[in-house]
Amino acid sequence: MRKPIIVGNWKMNCTIPEAFELVKRLKMMVSEVKGREIVIAPPFTALSSVSHALIGSNMTLAAQNLFWEGKGAFTGEISAEMILDSGCDYVIIGHSERRQFFAETDDSVNRKVKAALAGGLIPIVCVGETLAEREAGETFPVIERQLTNGLNDVRLSSSEDLVIAYEPVWAIGTGRTATPSQAQEVHAYIRGLLKNLLGEAAGDIRVLYGGSVKPENIDELMTEPDIDGALVGGASLKADSFARIVRFKVHGMAKDTEHYL
Ligand code: 13P
Repeated sequence: MRKPIIVGNWKMNCTIPEAFELVKRLKMMVSEVKGREIVIAPPFTALSSVSHALIGSNMTLAAQNLFWEGKGAFTGEISAEMILDSGCDYVIIGHSERRQFFAETDDSVNRKVKAALAGGLIPIVCVGETLAEREAGETFPVIERQLTNGLNDVRLSSSEDLVIAYEPVWAIGTGRTATPSQAQEVHAYIRGLLKNLLGEAAGDIRVLYGGSVKPENIDELMTEPDIDGALVGGASLKADSFARIVRFKVHGMAKDTEHYL
């Protein structure tokens, strides 16, 4: 059973006091939620303080990036060990904003995934096509290239050690969400690809959808069989909207049921 997971990617937002305030409100609003994982990814500067604020809560932490080297003369970079040390379980890798603004490639994604796994972190690997690629009918080849190269030579001991996030670039921060069936089509494709690349057990790797996820569309997205959760940007910066997304309902039911526990 794939336990649903909702991840809030705060991107470059929140000072430490702002992060504390948001976490304080969130903790109150989601404390009763069971059967789904709740992860937040504040900026590096707030990780350590937020990790202390999360002690005893049902939320865990992710970083938004890492560097593949262990230590040394790499000014401005952060290693897997440092991220683990800041209290994180997860790390987001290959977000389209990093590919777009910081020249990340499938090869750097691959090095980062390996460093994260070796360092005891669970990578959340982002893939997704641009609008031009979708319109040219290249969605599947783009995803195939990103995953094949990004996961080259990656070995998993468990399907829980990796999470994939499908984030169509045209849906990020635009208010234009993929329809549930558009997302489902790509998620099913990704699941098949993961089995080919990593073996049958990889069919249980969780695949999240990201791109303008909001309280208004989460329920519909989560009814799709291959959507295991969401990677939420803008709507994760407000406690009430993120809490509603965490409390998604499937067919009118809060799906936090015992079979996920
Ligand atoms: P938005 O939810 O703001 O569209 O951002 C999605 C995203 O990039 C999450 O990583």
